[in-house]
Formats: sequence, structure tokens, C-alpha cells
Amino acid sequence: MCGIVGYTGSSPALLVLLQGLERLEYRGYDSAGVALVEKGELYVDKKVGKIRELVRSLWGKDLKATAGIGHTRWATHGEVCELNAHPHTDGSSEFAVVHNGIVENYRELKEELEKLGIAYRSQTDTEAIVHLVALNYEGDLLKAVLKTLEKLTGAYAFAVISAKEPGRIVAVRYGSPLVVGIGKGENFIASDIPALLPFTRDVIPLKDGEVVDLRPDGVFIYDFKGNLLTKDVMHVPWDIISAEKGGFKHFMLKEIFEQPRTLSDTIRGYISRDLSLPFSLKDFRRVLVVACGTSYHAGLVGKYWIEKYAGVPVEVAYASEVRYSDMQVGEEDLVLAISQSGETADTRFSVLALKEKGSTLLSLVNVMGSALDRESDYTLYTHAGPEIGVAATKTFTAQLAVLYALAVNHTEDRQVKMENLLRVPHLVEEYLSNSEAVRELAIRYADRRDFLYIGRYLSYPVALEGALKLKEISYIHAEGYPAGEMKHGPIALIEEKTPTIAIAPKDRVYEKMLSNIEEVLARKGKVIGVGFEGDENLKKLCTNLIEIPPIEEDLTPFLTTIPLQLFAYYIADYLGLDVDQPRNLAKTVTVE
Ligand code: M6R
Repeated sequence: MCGIVGYTGSSPALLVLLQGLERLEYRGYDSAGVALVEKGELYVDKKVGKIRELVRSLWGKDLKATAGIGHTRWATHGEVCELNAHPHTDGSSEFAVVHNGIVENYRELKEELEKLGIAYRSQTDTEAIVHLVALNYEGDLLKAVLKTLEKLTGAYAFAVISAKEPGRIVAVRYGSPLVVGIGKGENFIASDIPALLPFTRDVIPLKDGEVVDLRPDGVFIYDFKGNLLTKDVMHVPWDIISAEKGGFKHFMLKEIFEQPRTLSDTIRGYISRDLSLPFSLKDFRRVLVVACGTSYHAGLVGKYWIEKYAGVPVEVAYASEVRYSDMQVGEEDLVLAISQSGETADTRFSVLALKEKGSTLLSLVNVMGSALDRESDYTLYTHAGPEIGVAATKTFTAQLAVLYALAVNHTEDRQVKMENLLRVPHLVEEYLSNSEAVRELAIRYADRRDFLYIGRYLSYPVALEGALKLKEISYIHAEGYPAGEMKHGPIALIEEKTPTIAIAPKDRVYEKMLSNIEEVLARKGKVIGVGFEGDENLKKLCTNLIEIPPIEEDLTPFLTTIPLQLFAYYIADYLGLDVDQPRNLAKTVTVE
């Protein structure tokens, strides 16, 4: 969590830092700050709130520094206030640090430092780093950082500058993401690639255990022992345009409407060849899917497809639950980690532990070069491009596309199935071009405080995903439930003011869903159905019906998901909420 950016070159650093921070704001937006080496002294400014508060504070200041670091915070240790905002400085204000992640032994370090007479100013774990660097400094920032690393435990990325060595930034990756951007006579660091795209597409994603010594005319990467490493520069295929809003009010809306293209790009990536995996799912005793949030929901859909087509038992688990469990895995198991960012700490660390136990690790990620990508035995990619909205949308449907391709990979009619899958982007486009009715419906229901989302079989994970979208961006309580389970308890929640969204495409459980809808109606509940166009049964039954183009059973989740994304978006937008950066959240959760 949190976003880090750094620049050293010959242009005014502040402009680069602020632009970078704006692109990293999705990682956290409790406070923001910068530190620059201005006329031989450290200049620090930090403000509570979003980047715009920092920009306001810096407005009109003629800062000429050509090197600096910046930070946007998602609070983990210490309340949201200016003192806890980054950058943090040492007692003599000669060193500044920005940090993402957690220093786990910060309490011991604080005690040790206080015994040496060093006074703490904040409640953060970060402050330990800067005091240690100052303490270890003997004329070389890199050496001071390397020595500091010997004392730290946890998972983190941080960057340090010093007034004593203007133009030099030393940054570290250990468990939280950090990417180096290579320019001409200037170099950059950032937590994520999109922050670098306005300046360069040549990047080096650092690995855990690497330290970069960044100067205007050179980039030197070392291991924690100080051995110089040789690294390849990667050219990023995205351009800046694909990370902009493109005329949409919010990134989330843009990303929802991008799905015909992102689906088609993803499917085409796998259509003419198999998945280039040197194994079949059938080679394994079990597939264990590990993921969080939306990626977990994609895994639940994938389970049905894999069990149907590969005939292998699939277990789907929340990464945060796996990590401290005694799960029995071994060589006979395939662990499938699903993660848009490829940086989610819960997912990474739980699957790494499973890999240690002998299982094969296959990952499905959207970000090439991410930690999971590098740490896995094999990787599959979604080709959805950068996703900026905190709520995952286009990456969810892209994950579904790859999971489907994986499930049917060794079937005899794989090619036919994949060609058929290529119909999905067209149908999604058809639905989106005719989706105005959802907006009106959303506005009509925007005053409700509770929603139930129900579905069965493939529509059950879609119900979970629809409910997650609504709660995270509109702050309305929503519960996803298997429709058949309602009678075992949650049906007690039904009353006139609690609408139920019932996902009921014509599939194997359609008739069962109709009965479940009747059960809700019998308790005076209002039902918004999501079903096929022209479904007269549903139309008669439901208070409102969202109609999607008919599609075969297997592929229904692609179509049923889209109106639920729009429904959540339009409610949140109508309520005037910050759709792309909802409160308390961050796009990539790199802390446990
Ligand atoms: O990057 P990941 O797919 O690993 O992220 C997992 C979750 O943090 C993520 O899906 C989260 O639940 C989203 N905010 C959902 O919209």
C-alpha cells in the first residue's frame, strides 16, 4: 500500500513527483508529501488528504530542485495526520525517507533508538528507517542504507535522499513493489509502472532483495550485500493514453466500457495456440486457487469450468486464510494464484509458502513483471491494460476469459470453444451500447441501505462480485449469497426496503432460481432480476428486470457481471462519491 515516486535529473523534480503521485494516488490517499534537495538543504512539504491538498500548499513556490522523492499514504501505523505523513526526516533534517509496506520490528527499533537519545516525532514504523540511515551515514548514502537493511524485518520498499548528496536517491525493494524508470540524463523510481509512463517506457522492475543507487546519469542495482547486479531493461508495451480517462467521468466507467476490447485482446492472446504450459490440469490431484477480493470471485467461477472440462477437483481459498492454515499440499497439487496486480501481499506470501511445500505455482496476473509473475513457475496474463479504478472491473472479466481458456485447454474441441468465446466481446458491446436503463434503475434504488445479491451455480460468484462492487464504492451494505441458502437464514432479512438482485440467466438452475425469487416475493421483497432479453417469466415475476443478450450457460458470467458493475457505479456516482478512490481502500494491498 502507499505509493512512492522519485526523480533525479536536470528538470524541476517537483513537477515529475506530483505527476507521478497523481498516478499512484489509487494506492492510498490519506496524505501526500514530497522531499527535495533545494539549495543544499532538505525541503519537505506534506499534507493530509489527497494530492490536490499538497499541490495547493506548494502552489506558487519556486522550487528548483532537480532531485526528490514523493509519497501518497494509506495509513497502516499511526492515525491520518501531518506528523505521520511521509516523507519522514531524521533529527537534523539531513535525510528523508518515503516508505511503502511494514517494518515489523519497529517497536524494538524505536526502543533502541530512543535509548540512544533519538527522539521520535511520529507514530509510524517508517521513522525507524530514517533514523537508522542517519546513524549509519559515514559519507556514502548507499552504504548507510545497506547497513540499515541489516536491522529491518518486514516487507517494504523505501527511498532515501540526503541533503549531503544532492542528485542521489537510494531505494530498496523487499516485499513491496518498486520499479526503476530509465531516461536520458534523468532516472526515476515508482511503486508502479503507470506513474513512469509520462516520462519513460524503459523500466527495470526490481526484485525483492535489491537496492538501486539512482543518479541522473546512471542506475546501479545491488543485492543487500552490496554486490553489483546486471539487469535487463524492459520496454513497456502500454502507452500513456491507455492510462487516461479518455472522456469518461471516472476511470471505473471507462474501464467498464473498455471490456469489449480487453476481452477480445485477452481471448485473442490464447485463441490460436494452447496455453504453452508443459502440463495438463489432469496431471494434478487437485487445483488449489488462492486469491483475494474480486480475483477470488473469478477463481470461484473458474472452479466450475475446470471441474467440468478438466475433471480435476478444485478448491478455492482466500489467500489471507491460507497463509496461517495447515493446508496439506504437495507435489501432486497445482496452486493457481490469481491477482490483477501480482503484488497483493496476502496472495504472494501464501502461495510462496505452498510452493515451498512442493506444489507447482501457476499465476494469473495482469501486470507483467510483477512480483507474482517473477516468483511463479508459470504465468498466464490477462491483457486488460492498466486498471486505475480501485474497483476491479475489466480485469475480472479478463481473468474469467483466461480461466475459461485454461479449463478447456485440453478438450478435443478446444478450438471451437475458444472461437465461441470470441462472441463474448461482441455481446458485451451490444449490451453496453444499450445500458442506459441500468443508470435509471440505479438512481431509483440509490436511497436503499441494504441489498441482497443472489445466484446459483455460475451466477453465485457473480452475486458475490456484484455485492462487493456495490459496498466498496457506494458504502451501501450488500450481501452476496447462494440463492438456495437463503432459506437457511438470510431470508429473515427480506423486507420491502431491502431489494434483492437475482441473477437468473437461462441455465441448469434457472427453474430453481425462479422458485428462490418467489420465496423473496412472498416475503414482500422487491426483486431486480438479471436475465435474458425477452424472458417473460422473469419479467412477470420481478419488480424490475435488467435484460442481457442470451448466451450459452458456460459464458453467462461475462454478461451478468456487466450490469452489476454499472449498477454499483451509477449509484456511487449519483451519491456524489469518489468512485475511483473509495474511502479506506487502495488498489494494491501490499501489506497483510
Ligand atoms: O490485485 P489483486 O487482484 O490481487 O487484488 C485483490 C483485491 O485486493 C481486489 O480484487 C479488491 O478486492 C478490489 N478492490 C475489488 O474491486
